[in-house]
Amino acid sequence: MRMIKWENGAVFTPDQTRLPLEEVTLKLTTVEQMAEAIKSLQIRGAPLLGAAAAFGLALGAYNSKAQSVSELLADLDAVGVTIKEQRPTAVNLFWATDRVLNMAHAYGGFSVDELRAAVLVEAQRIADEDAAQNYAIGKYGAEIIDDGDTILTHCNAGELATVEYGTALGVIRSAWAQGKKIKVIADETRPLLQGARLTVFELQRDGIPVTLITDNMAGYAMSKGLIDKVIVGADRIVQDAVFNKIGTYSVAILAHEHNIPFYVAAPKSTFDLTRKATDVTIEERKPDEVTHIGCQQTAPNNINVMNPAFDATPLKYVAGIITETGIYTQEHFQKFNPTFPL
Ligand code: MRU
Repeated sequence: MRMIKWENGAVFTPDQTRLPLEEVTLKLTTVEQMAEAIKSLQIRGAPLLGAAAAFGLALGAYNSKAQSVSELLADLDAVGVTIKEQRPTAVNLFWATDRVLNMAHAYGGFSVDELRAAVLVEAQRIADEDAAQNYAIGKYGAEIIDDGDTILTHCNAGELATVEYGTALGVIRSAWAQGKKIKVIADETRPLLQGARLTVFELQRDGIPVTLITDNMAGYAMSKGLIDKVIVGADRIVQDAVFNKIGTYSVAILAHEHNIPFYVAAPKSTFDLTRKATDVTIEERKPDEVTHIGCQQTAPNNINVMNPAFDATPLKYVAGIITETGIYTQEHFQKFNPTFPL
C-alpha cells in the first residue's frame, strides 16, 4: 500500500502517531503542515522522510506566488531549509531535499509552471523509486532467511517507514511470500513504541506470526535460543557505522555475543559514505517521551532525562547490509569509503 500520495495540491499519508488504535489519514496542504508532521513523527522512518521532503518541496512549488523562475528557486531553497531543520539524523531527508533542489536549479530557464510541474515529477519519482527499491531489498534479503527462522527486529522498518513494502519488514514479507515458515519477535522500542504500535500492527494485519517483547527481553530471548537472525532498518549508513533507532546498538552487541547474524536492510539513499559516525548529529528529543508513556507520567517531576533518538552500531557487528542491488558484507566494508562502487 502507498504510504504517501499527492492529489490535487495535497499530500495524503497515515498519521503514525495515532496507530494502531485509530487509522487517520492526514491531508497536508502547506509546507508548514509537512514540517510539523515530520517533526512530530506523524510521518517517520528514513525512506518515507525522503519522500515527504520531496513532496514538501512540491507543496512549496504549488503554493508559491513566484512570478519568475528565479523567484520560485528562491522559494524552494527556503522550503529546503525548513524541511532540513525538522530532524537531523535520517539522511534521506537531506538526500531527497538536495536531489529535488539540484534538479530545480539545473532546470533554470523554463517557465514557472514548468518548474512547478518538474518538482512534482521529481517527488513522484523519488516515491516510485523507493517503492521499487524495497521490493528489490526484499528479494535479495529473502535469500538469507531460512525456513523456520525466528527474526528479531527493532523499531519499525516496515511499509509505514517507507513508501511501500518496507525494508527490514520487506525482507520478512518477501521470505513469507516464498512460503518460508518464519516468525518475528518485535522489540517494543521505547520511548515511542514504534515496535509495539507499528511493526506488530503491520505484521499482524499481514498474518505473519509476531510476538511482542519489551526491549530488555531481547537478551533473554537470544540466550534461550529463540532468535536465529536480527534484521533492522537504518537512518544513515556512514563509513564505519549504521545509525538506527536507539537500542539498535544494544541489540547488535547481544546478537554478537550469541553468534546471531545481525543484518541491516536499507536503500542506498540511506548511504552517506562521505561521513564517519563522529560526524553525525543524533537527534535529542523532548524529556516527556521518557518521563511519560503516552499521556501517563511514569517518573517524578523535575528528573534529569536523556533522550537520544538514534545510536550508531559499528560495522564490525553487521553481517550484511541488504540493499536494492545486493548484500554488502564484511568483505565490502573494508573498502567502504566515498569512492566505494555503489
Ligand atoms: O524516529 P523514527 O521512528 O523515524 O525512527 C525510525 C527508525 O529508526 C527506522 O528503523 C529507520 O528509519 C529505518 S525505516 C525503513
